Amino acid sequence: MENNLITEIERDAVYKTIYGRRDVRRYFKSDPIPSEVLARILQAAHHAGSVGYMQPWNFIIVEDFNIRQKVKESFERERSEAALLFDDEKRTKYLSFKLEGILESPLNMVVTSDPTRFGPQVIGRHSMPETHLYSTCCAIQNLWLAARAENIGVGWVSILKREDLRPIFHIPQHIAIVAYLCLGYVTCFPDQPDLERVGWGKRLPLENLVYFDLWGGQLSQERKELVSFFQALVNSHAQGSP
Ligand SMILES: Cc1cc2nc3c(=O)[nH]c(=O)nc-3n(C[C@H](O)[C@H](O)[C@H](O)COP(=O)(O)O)c2cc1C
Repeated sequence: MENNLITEIERDAVYKTIYGRRDVRRYFKSDPIPSEVLARILQAAHHAGSVGYMQPWNFIIVEDFNIRQKVKESFERERSEAALLFDDEKRTKYLSFKLEGILESPLNMVVTSDPTRFGPQVIGRHSMPETHLYSTCCAIQNLWLAARAENIGVGWVSILKREDLRPIFHIPQHIAIVAYLCLGYVTCFPDQPDLERVGWGKRLPLENLVYFDLWGGQLSQERKELVSFFQALVNSHAQGSP
């Protein structure tokens, strides 16, 4: 078997890409994404793991402005509806956020998942039929990271009604609509998530999320130190140190 170990420089590039990935809703430039770059990103998505090797994904590349306009209208309606669920103070904040780049980005993409691909007997789906969705999310994360490695921003828009999208894109009823993405070169990738920058949310401490042996089980002091060390590493990466 070929020695295909990852070198230290390659490893650092992967972590740099992971920590430097952002959900991007602004800063889009109008430059088109060259076909070979788009092909690389899609190939990366297509190399995700999938339950029973089912590869349930499809990618609809959306360039047409009129189509995107219809999607934007769905976003506006859904955003207004979602705003009603917040109290007054939070609603004003929520409505001030930029939560999509549907018209500003040069390219949009719908990612779907086909639960019927390869029929009902897919290895691993008997006990967890929803794993086709997890597989498609793995493909999207690959796409997100590959795009970052190409210095292309990706924004995920979920403030959309699937019943609006289905007729716009002629998506059959049995196909799951998983994601609507906005892609394009950007003028910058911020260090922090947008929602952190505006004080809406914070990254949770990793040590609160890691359990050993039992759900909710207390960490031993030794394990606590280990997890805190992981957290410190994440912070130093987020701040741009090697
Ligand atoms: C499933 C999913 C749906 C999302 N939907 C939206 C959305 O509708 N609008 C938006 O602005 N961001 C959306 N996001 C982006 C998140 O807000 C973002 O990932 C999070 O705030 C962390 O920021 P980061 O991705 O820059 O690290 C979504 C992300 C995921 C994974």
